[in-house]
Amino acid sequence: MQAYTIDFVNLLLRWLHVIAAIAWIGESIYFVMLDNSLRTPKSSEDREKGVFGEMWSVHGGGFYHNQKYATAPAKLPNELHWSFWKAYTTWLSGFALFVILYMVNPGFYLVNPNSSWQWAANMSGWQANLLALAFLLGGWVVYNELCKRISPNMERDGLLSVAVAVMMVVVAYLSTQMFTGRAAFLLTGAVMATAMSANVFFWIIPGQRRMVKAMKAGEAPNPLDGKRGKQRSVHNTYFTLPVVLLMVSNHYSFIYSHERAWIAMVLFIFAGALIRQFFVLMHAGKTQPAYPAFGVGLILLAFGVTAPTATLPSGEGVAGQPDQAQITQLMEQHCVQCHARNPAHAGFSAPPAGFALDNWDEILGHKAQIQRVVASRYMPLGNMTNMSDEERDIIAAWEE
Ligand code: HEC
Repeated sequence: MQAYTIDFVNLLLRWLHVIAAIAWIGESIYFVMLDNSLRTPKSSEDREKGVFGEMWSVHGGGFYHNQKYATAPAKLPNELHWSFWKAYTTWLSGFALFVILYMVNPGFYLVNPNSSWQWAANMSGWQANLLALAFLLGGWVVYNELCKRISPNMERDGLLSVAVAVMMVVVAYLSTQMFTGRAAFLLTGAVMATAMSANVFFWIIPGQRRMVKAMKAGEAPNPLDGKRGKQRSVHNTYFTLPVVLLMVSNHYSFIYSHERAWIAMVLFIFAGALIRQFFVLMHAGKTQPAYPAFGVGLILLAFGVTAPTATLPSGEGVAGQPDQAQITQLMEQHCVQCHARNPAHAGFSAPPAGFALDNWDEILGHKAQIQRVVASRYMPLGNMTNMSDEERDIIAAWEE
């Protein structure tokens, strides 16, 4: 009952998380498009009022006319639309999901028994939980310090982008050494997503509040607040595509359980940012196909980097063919605790990934998948049933 309840809450949280993320990112992509699509206003009256750019659009059967003021209009209207709850809801629901998916069972969802770092491979569950939290918090602190130190007045934003890119390479590398591949992808995405939400919470919204307050008091708003909000929201824009990839990567063990997973992660992060750049420029009227072309090149590189490698169990040293009895016995010994119609292992209300390996038809039906996850050492999860490389070799040698 407890496992079932957790699964049900998981489903509801994921529903909320995806909806909030769509609403937030959709709006954020819309505003970047709007900003870059602004053209000098046609009417001199508007220009005199301080309108610096305008966009006409047609949508949902109506015509819209957006106008942006250089800093602010002479007088603020009483009603002003703010956007922040979508960002906060996305982060809060995402964090809650992380807690119930990973932190409730850190022993096999966070701790990476194959880590080349001995201390990481031997971490206890609560140590892994604390490390994951420190990792998220540390990611934000380092990113925020980089912004504050390198480009406090938005004068060296180019250099800052390079520093943030280097930071992401380090984050990708560290995460895969310290945690399971699946958690590493998620946490690297979460470092970026946390920076995005924290940018909204600590900088963009407070800056806007100061601007509104100054104007209500009849003072000129500090232009640095506006520029800093812009700086952070530009970062958010380049984070969005990589974050979405890293979040959905959870369904693709071939990539995150690969020994070079961190390189693939880095390639995808850069590819996502480059592809985003294309759209940003396109709305500003500049079409530069070199950006997505380069991005696609990086994705092709990732395809090569995460191809199955020769160091994995291949079954070559195994004499003869394993028979049905041998395979069934290995499944029973290493897999059915979890992959059964009624899993004996605590924490599962149904067979994980939707299939049971307690009968021969199911085993045969998932042969290719079984061989892939056993060879990549992704399964048994956390190698908690201690499958040896010799046993993995037998699975790899199985042809029938
Ligand atoms: C401790 C519990 C546990 C054990 C033991 C275990 N699994 Fe899994 N398995 C899981 C969970 C949880 C998932 C879902 C994780 C995910 O979505 O990537 C999963 C997913 C899978 C998948 C789908 C993932 C993919 O990328 O296709 C396959 C195939 C699989 N397991 C095969 C096996 C085999 C074969 C064994 C035995 C050698 C095994 N598992 C042992 C818990 C377990």
